[in-house]
Amino acid sequence: MNHFLDINATSAEDLRSIIDSAKAMKAARSGLPKGTTDEDKPLDGQMVALIFEKPSTRTRVSFDVGVRQMGGQTMVLSGADMQLGHGETIADTARVLSRYVDMIMIRTFEEQTLLDMAEYATVPVINGLTNRTHPCQIMADIQTFEEHRGSISGKKVVWSGDGNNVCASFIHAAGQFGFDLTFTGPQTLDPEAGFVEEARAKGVDIQIERDPMKAVEGADLVVTDTWVSMHDPASARERRHNQLHPYQVNERLMAAAKPDALFMHCLPAHREDEATSAVMDGPNSVIFDEAENRLHAQKAIMRWCLGK
Ligand code: CP
Ligand code: NVA
Repeated sequence: MNHFLDINATSAEDLRSIIDSAKAMKAARSGLPKGTTDEDKPLDGQMVALIFEKPSTRTRVSFDVGVRQMGGQTMVLSGADMQLGHGETIADTARVLSRYVDMIMIRTFEEQTLLDMAEYATVPVINGLTNRTHPCQIMADIQTFEEHRGSISGKKVVWSGDGNNVCASFIHAAGQFGFDLTFTGPQTLDPEAGFVEEARAKGVDIQIERDPMKAVEGADLVVTDTWVSMHDPASARERRHNQLHPYQVNERLMAAAKPDALFMHCLPAHREDEATSAVMDGPNSVIFDEAENRLHAQKAIMRWCLGK
């Protein structure tokens, strides 16, 4: 069995096989009603716990539907309603859940919660977002890029805005899939330096450029995300808004990238803040393909976790 904890914690070969399997599984059920079970039922008889300590639409629904399509069953648990939210340790929770279920997906705050869950669980654990990273999202994004433009290797990706958890997983992916990444945003919201160094050590070009118009020159893909994440204090909103406004992805910024540059956003979005509707609904936007591919990528991740 394998845990899927982060993109930089999974080998490049395994990441590639997961993306290829996601594409094949998606193609195999093309045109089928969404509730139809996959022919091979790889999760037949398996029970999967989906734990949420933060809100979710895409992660919750795509994991739930994905498990059911593969013939398994789910239980969706709110962290606040579990003893976990009332002082029971992660280690005890992990050991208990492992007696009932075959796999655990958790969306949590501190990365240490995820790591403790993985250390003490005897079943695979999947990272459904922490304050630091969001690997399932970026697997769906790689699949989406490749469906539209072919291999992402050697391409230029530009992240504009907050150097947050989703940005961190993109930086991990740059190192593992071999693409160049430019971060553009205010210095106070730079991505973690350690992640940048780690990706650079793998031979990819990671640049930090304060001028967004310069940053997007030659970009094959422009990505952004909310200016205030779920783990950020609400009091940060106004300051973030002022700091990040110059990094809004609008038609002017997209016009400075390559003419066929794709636009991505993991959603949920605050339209007219980090990106305008003209871009989000424009011809180069693939935001809803990204959302759909959460389903296919995570099905492939779950198969890999269970060695199926
Ligand atoms: N992109 C993403 O993870 O969305 P949710 O917060 O709705 O799960
Ligand atoms: N950066 C966002 C991503 C939401 C899917 C957050 O953590 O709130």
